[in-house]
Amino acid sequence: MTVDDIGDSNLKVGIVGGGKRCKTILQMFQRQTQPQRTASVVIVADENAKGPGYQHAQSLGIDTTTDFEALGDRKDLDFILDLAGRRDVLIAILVRKKSRVPVLDAVASNVFYDLLNIQKELINTRIFLDTVLDSIQEGILVINPEYEILRVNTPLLKKLKRPKEEVVGKYCYEVLYGEDRPTGPDEGMCPVAEVIRTHRPQHTKHKHIDSNGNTIYHSVSAYPVIENGKVSRIVEISRDITGEIKTQEMLFEQEKLSSVGKLAAGVAHEINNPLTAVLTNSMLLLEDLREDDPMYEDIKGITDETLRCREIVRGLLEFARQETPAKVESDLNKIVSSVVGLVRKQFSFKNITVEANLAEEVPLTRLDKDQLQQVIVNILMNSMESIERDGEIRLETSYDEKARHVLLRIKDTGRGIPEDIKLKLFDPFFTTKETGTGLGLSISHGIIQRHGGRISFESQAGKGTTFTIELPVG
Ligand SMILES: Nc1ncnc2c1ncn2[C@@H]1O[C@H](COP(=O)(O)OP(=O)(O)O)[C@@H](O)[C@H]1O
Ligand SMILES: [Mg+2]
Repeated sequence: MTVDDIGDSNLKVGIVGGGKRCKTILQMFQRQTQPQRTASVVIVADENAKGPGYQHAQSLGIDTTTDFEALGDRKDLDFILDLAGRRDVLIAILVRKKSRVPVLDAVASNVFYDLLNIQKELINTRIFLDTVLDSIQEGILVINPEYEILRVNTPLLKKLKRPKEEVVGKYCYEVLYGEDRPTGPDEGMCPVAEVIRTHRPQHTKHKHIDSNGNTIYHSVSAYPVIENGKVSRIVEISRDITGEIKTQEMLFEQEKLSSVGKLAAGVAHEINNPLTAVLTNSMLLLEDLREDDPMYEDIKGITDETLRCREIVRGLLEFARQETPAKVESDLNKIVSSVVGLVRKQFSFKNITVEANLAEEVPLTRLDKDQLQQVIVNILMNSMESIERDGEIRLETSYDEKARHVLLRIKDTGRGIPEDIKLKLFDPFFTTKETGTGLGLSISHGIIQRHGGRISFESQAGKGTTFTIELPVG
């Protein structure tokens, strides 16, 4: 008889002998979990009421008796385990008991006991395995070749925000991708199907949008468990690699900016000299002409356009210079106030009000005041240019104590930034304006980066834009 042979109905067991083995068996029965519980001990009999098993039974509220014959009288028992191994006792019970309750004698009971012990070890191994799986932070699934989930670890359940019961027994494609048939990341290959087909581990990358609209990247690896030449299980491990991908993208962006910067510096330098010559000569020519001369307007055009070129070149050189900031302890609020003072009047001509909403106190930050001023002016100019007429620009400072960042938000009620150009905004020379240089934001980006900070924006076309600058404190 094995533990399995006990059947599915809840069997009632009587135990003869209340010693140590009895206690172990009681504990084993206790450990069975619902609904798999198949048997329970309902009575323990021993002449000695002091034995550990006897006492344990009492503490569990199980019937106990010092009268072996009383056990024989119990009509509800399905079988009796004899742990005492006393022939006289056994005979007494057998005689008394008129029913057909089977009795496992001492030898059979020993086998039963050993089986229970094996079960105990299995349970322990299972608990150990669960502990190991749960302590791995990657999401782990064990799937059978029918795509049904057999096991899931707690970190993955947390990520899925679902209880275990809603995951185990379900199809993996249903739980992971909400699909009704096997599918892979981005409609690509299904790693589980590939493992079954090839008997080899598979690795893929998976991109999806979470409930907050953020892009999340996962690396997914699936490994086969092979038994008798067939894939019996598939272990799928997934890891969130969003942080790594974002860092890669940022590095790429920085590299792009710095190589463009170098190129720009070279070109600007080359152009500067001939440009100065054109400008000087056209100005000299202009000086010699009277304003009513037919050539006057043409030469003036040359001078004006050359001046504009020089402006662009100046911007380029500034962009390429990438000066190390001369940082001194500064008060962000003061810098903001001074810039606001500078632009307020100018902006009022377009009927744009500029409001500053400064935090009571922000800690001093190590900044290059001139460079930061330039950044704020660049952003304010863009905001101003995005407002046709009548609007508002609001500047707001704050301190994020936890992140140890001072923050500056510049919010405008302008036309906003269309979705399709958002990724290009910080690119040098990217402009949507007829006379723009496309350098304001790329210069600002470089400055904030060299301050160890971050510049970002949020915008909805038609609704306005908010630029945020974060600068580290200390
Ligand atoms: N506040 C804003 N509102 C709308 N569009 C903006 C705003 N700030 C920047 N932009 C967009 O970003 C582009 C790049 O800005 P920038 O680098 O300062 O160059 P420029 O101002 O010379 O065009 C602008 O041409 C504009 O399309
Ligand atoms: Mg600009």
